[in-house]
This record gives sequence, C-alpha cells and structure tokens, in this order.
Amino acid sequence: MAGRAQGSSRALLAALLAPALLTLLVSPARGRGGRDHGDWDEATVMSLLPPREDAARVARFVTHICSWGALATISTMEAVRGWPFADVLSLSDGPPGVGSGVPYFYLSPLQISVSNLQENPHATLTLSLAETIYCRKNGFDPQNPLCVHIMLSGTVTKVNETEVNIAKHSLFTRHPAMKTWPASHNWFFAKLNITNIWVLDYFGGPKIVTPEEYYNVTFQ
Ligand SMILES: *[C@@H]1O[C@H](CO)[C@@H](O)[C@H](O)[C@H]1NC(C)=O
Ligand SMILES: *[C@@H]1O[C@H](CO)[C@@H](O)[C@H](O)[C@H]1NC(C)=O
Ligand SMILES: *[C@@H]1O[C@H](CO)[C@@H](O)[C@H](O)[C@H]1NC(C)=O
Repeated sequence: MAGRAQGSSRALLAALLAPALLTLLVSPARGRGGRDHGDWDEATVMSLLPPREDAARVARFVTHICSWGALATISTMEAVRGWPFADVLSLSDGPPGVGSGVPYFYLSPLQISVSNLQENPHATLTLSLAETIYCRKNGFDPQNPLCVHIMLSGTVTKVNETEVNIAKHSLFTRHPAMKTWPASHNWFFAKLNITNIWVLDYFGGPKIVTPEEYYNVTFQ
C-alpha cells in the first residue's frame, strides 16, 4: 500500500477522527425522503472519509456507509448463460457505528442472483459513495474516482447458526423493512467471503487492499 511513510500523520489523523467517528456514525440522518436505512447526512460522510492514502480504511468506510450495492454473479439464465449479471442487493456490515467489514445479505432462493450463486458462488460486489449525498454535493460524477467506489470479490456463503444473530442484527437495524418480508420467500442470511479488494478513490488506477489489511482496520 502507498503512503506508509506518512504513517505517523495518518495515525494522528485517525486518532483525531476516532471520537468523531463514534459520535457521528451512530447518528445517520433518518427518515429523509421516507427512507428508513443508512441515509447518511452530508456532513457525516464529508467529515469522516478517511485519508485517501489509507486505502484499507477507505474501503472499510465505504462498506460501512453503503446500505446497498450491485452484486455481479455469473448468469445461469439461458439467454445470457455464463455472462456477468449484476443485481442490486441490500446489505449491512453492522449497525451504524459498528461496522465489521463483512457484507451481510438477506436472500431468497427466488432471486436471480441466488440461482446464479447456487451454480457458481463467486461474485463481485461494487459499492459507491454515489449512494450518499457526498458525490452530488462535491460535483463528483459517479465514474470519477473521487466519488469513492470499491469492488469486493469473493464467494457468497450462507452464514452458520452462530453468525445468524450477527447477520440479522446487522441487517435489520439498517433495513427494518426486512422484518416484514414474506416468509414464503424462505429468506436466509448470507455473507460475502472477501478474497480480493480494489479501491478507486483517486486518479492513477485502483489500489489493491488485502483482506488482512481490510479486517485489520479498527475505528476505535
Ligand atoms: C461460524 O462462522 C464463524 C465465522 O466464519 C466461525 O468463526 C465459526 O467458527 C463458525 N461456527 C461453527 C459452529 O461452524
Ligand atoms: C473464504 O474464502 C477463503 C479463501 O478462498 C477460504 O479459505 C475459506 O474457507 C472461505 N470461508 C468460507 C466461510 O467459505
Ligand atoms: C494492522 O494494524 C496495525 C496497527 O495499525 C499495523 O501496525 C499493522 O501493520 C497492520 N497489519 C496489516 C496486515 O495491515
């Protein structure tokens, strides 16, 4: 990762940001436009975006801020068999302020993505700050790397009995509507087991972050 030489100034920034993160990440604006999930206000996102040279921290920040993303899978539908196929999925890596970095999903076998994943569990999840007011306020087009976006590749797996409670709490606090989704759809909890990470947060191409670096980040 670039920017190791600036470790001390980064540590200082991180220390300065930590209390702000704790205070602000626990209070996303709610209810605006009738939305009932992570509708982060502009000030929160703008003030808390980590220094761009710390790509692992930026990736964790984006994962936590995003409430949904596009998951690309390999299609099993006859017309486009074997082609990449992306769908929008709601997700959460934890309640506001306590992101784990693990993207959890609430899925149904009736979903196209799930049919695809049953044949090939490999997937890439794209998350972008374009879903917050941050990019619009700064005039960053979604394709502009300054409108930070990340790609997370890996395999989508059902979570085990122990992890179900964590997944459920993570998702239901950020997506209360999920509690009332029809039981007949056989919803289950799943997660992306991340193996590769790309961060697009500045010009000059994507930065590569390892899962070890990504999960090593703490916001305390
Ligand atoms: C459940 O999954 C978690 C996270 O992957 C793992 O740490 C734990 O050992 C698993 N528990 C069982 C009983 O398999
Ligand atoms: C996650 O991916 C790693 C690397 O491919 C693999 O070793 C591990 O078993 C996977 N974990 C789960 C829960 O699928
Ligand atoms: C994990 O974080 C510590 C403390 O910030 C750092 O010294 C170490 O290099 C990090 N390890 C990885 C693999 O990122």
